[in-house]
Amino acid sequence: MAYAEDLFNLKDRVAVVTGGNGALGSEYAEAFIKSGAKVAVFDIKKENCPKIKKLMDDGKPLAYYSVDITKKDLLQKAYEDAASELGTPTILVNNAGLDSHPSAPAAQNGPFEDYPEEVWDAMIDSHLKGMLFMSQFFIKKFREAGEKRGSIINISSTYGLVTPDQSVYEFRRKNGEQYFKPVGYSVAKSGVLNFTRWLAEYAAPFGIRVNTLAPGGVYAGQDKEFIREYEKRTPLGRMAERTDYNGAVIFLASDASSYMTGSLMVVDGGWTAR
Ligand SMILES: NC(=O)c1ccc[n+]([C@@H]2O[C@H](COP(=O)([O-])OP(=O)(O)OC[C@H]3O[C@@H](n4cnc5c(N)ncnc54)[C@H](O)[C@@H]3O)[C@@H](O)[C@H]2O)c1
Repeated sequence: MAYAEDLFNLKDRVAVVTGGNGALGSEYAEAFIKSGAKVAVFDIKKENCPKIKKLMDDGKPLAYYSVDITKKDLLQKAYEDAASELGTPTILVNNAGLDSHPSAPAAQNGPFEDYPEEVWDAMIDSHLKGMLFMSQFFIKKFREAGEKRGSIINISSTYGLVTPDQSVYEFRRKNGEQYFKPVGYSVAKSGVLNFTRWLAEYAAPFGIRVNTLAPGGVYAGQDKEFIREYEKRTPLGRMAERTDYNGAVIFLASDASSYMTGSLMVVDGGWTAR
């Protein structure tokens, strides 16, 4: 038991989780705290989700920064504050980003020919520009502090590895909607893959590993038809629970993955195996 604990131990490390107020980011924040780390959450939302609120109310080592990670000046200030409050971050999870919710305005989820420019820009910026700025601040501060061992985890998606299976959404079109899972999200998420590879080579001499985690779909109160179609296409026969990615994130952050960089870890119930 002690062996596994040592291998995955994050005692006194400082982790930054972007989008840490969301469904999965708040799970990562809690998992880091349970593994001994201190956590800085960077999220555009002002109000804390129940999980983050509880961690803060319970006095856990978590600091919350309400900031838009695509705004470089504001982000720099938040990053400086986090580093002086908690210590130099040596773990970064680039997890924040927009998705087009099925209930979003029809133009977002309609025919490709009408996909709005501003939605494309917001999608690419929230995932990729935010990831760029965060990684720049992380590496700069890490090097200035003379840290030796760091890990950046960039969150992609199965929809960044393969195109969304539009037949999953056929039930919506049968109901008379013009619904297609849109292009912007997939393109942003596939950009993450080569951002990781590029940065892995650049950052290796500084002792920083950089990897991608590609999660599959998570239960979040979706339509029954959607869930049925999704489960049918997933070898494990279900969508993910919110906690299903915590093990992968702790693995990638810790010394358990010390020889892994520039890689892709897929945790998707087998979706992309077919
Ligand atoms: N939930 C899934 O099914 C699923 C599947 C595969 C990949 N992912 C990816 O995992 C990550 C987390 O997903 P989630 O389900 O927790 O989503 P979520 O919407 O619950 O959380 C995303 C968080 O990012 C924040 N955010 C968005 N834009 C931001 C910005 N510019 N600056 C700061 N914060 C910003 C939001 O406020 C939100 O709290 C995302 O990158 C998502 O694409 C999710």
